[in-house]
Amino acid sequence: MKTVTGIAPVNIAVVKYWGKRDEDLILPINDSLSCTLSTDFMCAKTTIMASPTFPTHRFWLNGKESDFNNERLNNCLTEIRKRANPKCGDLLNWKLHICSENNFPTAAGLASSAAGYAALVSTLSALYNVEGDISAIARRGSGSACRSIYGGFVRWNKGAKPGGEDSIACQIASASHWPEMRVLILVVSDDQKKYSSTSGMKQSVLTSELLKHRAEKIVPGRVDEIIKAIKLKNFEAFAKITMQDSNQFHAICLDTYPPCFYMNDVSRMIIELVHAYNDYQGATKVAYTFDAGPNACLYLLQNDVDEVASLINDIFPSNTNPKKH
Ligand code: PMV
Repeated sequence: MKTVTGIAPVNIAVVKYWGKRDEDLILPINDSLSCTLSTDFMCAKTTIMASPTFPTHRFWLNGKESDFNNERLNNCLTEIRKRANPKCGDLLNWKLHICSENNFPTAAGLASSAAGYAALVSTLSALYNVEGDISAIARRGSGSACRSIYGGFVRWNKGAKPGGEDSIACQIASASHWPEMRVLILVVSDDQKKYSSTSGMKQSVLTSELLKHRAEKIVPGRVDEIIKAIKLKNFEAFAKITMQDSNQFHAICLDTYPPCFYMNDVSRMIIELVHAYNDYQGATKVAYTFDAGPNACLYLLQNDVDEVASLINDIFPSNTNPKKH
């Protein structure tokens, strides 16, 4: 019997991935860029036990048994096994019991699948002693999972090869490059989202002209600009691109037919509050970004965390304290 445990953190995109050019291989239509959070707060943990006595593969998510015949899970397993160290021998034939859990709401637009599949793939790679980049394998679980394989500021290159070998993540800068950077996660709702990101982006690819315009004309320049801002630690430039990209992503969701609404009234109040706060400060101190859900991620620098957190607590008093990352 062999048991391994691994953890992977959540990543929050500042230039969003939205739309696939290949549904099966999960190849995106645009590059994206994110920050990986510290594992101290929001992460997924996977434990895998392999045994010659297990009759079947089994899988538990957050303590509840789920179907192992999940296509994405099996794609990750198949790809990892292709790269397994030949010395694994019989281990490759043993059945697996996989337990995965998140320490935060699942499928509420808080990148749970990114952390979940990154934890799964890195734990499988430890089990089978896989070497080299595994981000392309994590991508087969959930596109954004490839970015959670690396820490700090991470770019996912859309790649050009039909098989997706070059659609991989790479680190732009480590977390220690910009240690003052912080994220506040405001959990507006921990309900599961109405439209999955998979179905939302599929519908956007089919119907949104704005999506094509963004992928071709906007994202390439935006990725270059935000990398420049990160390298120079230019928070104002970083924040402006982050907010513009979040807004454009949600504009695409509206431009999708039928539209998908991920933000709610509280999300929009947070956007107004951030702009009012930045105006009052006479400088861009805080940036918001929203994924496929109503919850806000605020990027800001360490010095401004206490003031912004107390402002949020004053304005939304019924909420529990935002978690600092
Ligand atoms: O990896 P998925 O299929 O959960 O898609 C994630 C899409 C966004 O979170 C909205 C954007 C992103 O780049 O993470």
